Amino acid sequence: MEKPDCTPIWLMRQAGRYMEEYRALRRRHTFVEMCKTPEIAAQVTLQPVLRFDLDAAIIFSDILLPLEGMGVALHFDDAEGPVVERPVRSAADVEALRPIDPGRDLSYLLDAIRIARPALSGRIPLIGFAGAPFTLAAYLIEGGASKHYQATKAFMYAQPAAFHLLMEKLTDLCAASLNAQVGAGAQAVQVFDSWVGVLGAADYAEYVMDHSARLFASIDRSVPSIHFGVDTFHLLPLMGRAGGDVIGVDWRVPIDIAWEAIGRDRPIQGNLDPAALLGPPAHLERQVREIVRRAGTGGGHIFNLGHGVLPETQPEAVELLVRKVHEYGRAA
Ligand code: CP3
Repeated sequence: MEKPDCTPIWLMRQAGRYMEEYRALRRRHTFVEMCKTPEIAAQVTLQPVLRFDLDAAIIFSDILLPLEGMGVALHFDDAEGPVVERPVRSAADVEALRPIDPGRDLSYLLDAIRIARPALSGRIPLIGFAGAPFTLAAYLIEGGASKHYQATKAFMYAQPAAFHLLMEKLTDLCAASLNAQVGAGAQAVQVFDSWVGVLGAADYAEYVMDHSARLFASIDRSVPSIHFGVDTFHLLPLMGRAGGDVIGVDWRVPIDIAWEAIGRDRPIQGNLDPAALLGPPAHLERQVREIVRRAGTGGGHIFNLGHGVLPETQPEAVELLVRKVHEYGRAA
């Protein structure tokens, strides 16, 4: 990988409701229509990179949509978020999940990549993504967002064989989706294991790690991969062992301490608290300076938030963030 002349930055959820350009389109289309209309998904992908000096684009889609190809009925409710109409609760429910054919089931996503990639004209890379097996399993079992993930843990402990089969099927889904995205033009991929932090390290080792390791081993080696999770400090050594060329971390632990836990030889991504964008500019600048100081400017750090941009964020704060990362992150 080439060494950039300053710390690069992109943001999870950099396209979304905090941007007027997004809200204008969203008034005319549902979220799912936007994802499934390749021209619109590509246009939304470009919105933040046209407005801010970001160093990567991420294709506009959602981690849950590929589940439809397995036979899962989903709807996105404006108030509740995504809802799985019949949550997975039994071995028979797991058996019923079909393998996907990315060319048929994810054509909207692959076409959006084929439109967005040339539109970026090599200026910045396009990132593809998928949900990690555990985070998708948790969504399928809970049926929606959850606070404590009791249903997921109860299923995992009571029906371990069915849980592992579910994880195997989801690993195949993620690998097929990511490799198809690379084939369509994605130049890096991020695996979102956003919810895996709810597990203790022993449970991660027993129920998740081998599946995530198989996933990373099956991703096309021609592109770098990013392995991201939230609230994962206790899991970082194991997540690092499972794979990912870059490990993404949240803000709960200072980035240099997280980096020690991962190993300094592995690039790291993170870790500004998304809420820092809601505070005064002086506070934001201080937080940025501190992260860059802790991570250094010697390479191996991709600046990002510790989770997605919040809808309440003012675009001016994002503009300031990007400018300050490039200023403070200039290589010495
Ligand atoms: O980073 C990116 O911009 C890529 C696109 C992306 C979205 N969601 C777009 C989106 C990605 C990678 C996700 C991840 C995702 N989606 C996760 C992992 C957790 C995380 O945030 O890291 C989960 C669990 C989902 C499922 C999901 N999709 C939820 C819970 C919600 C509702 C909450 C919300 O923010 O509205 C969505 C909808 C969603 N996904 C929106 C966007 C831009 C909002 C859609 C809208 O109403 O306009």
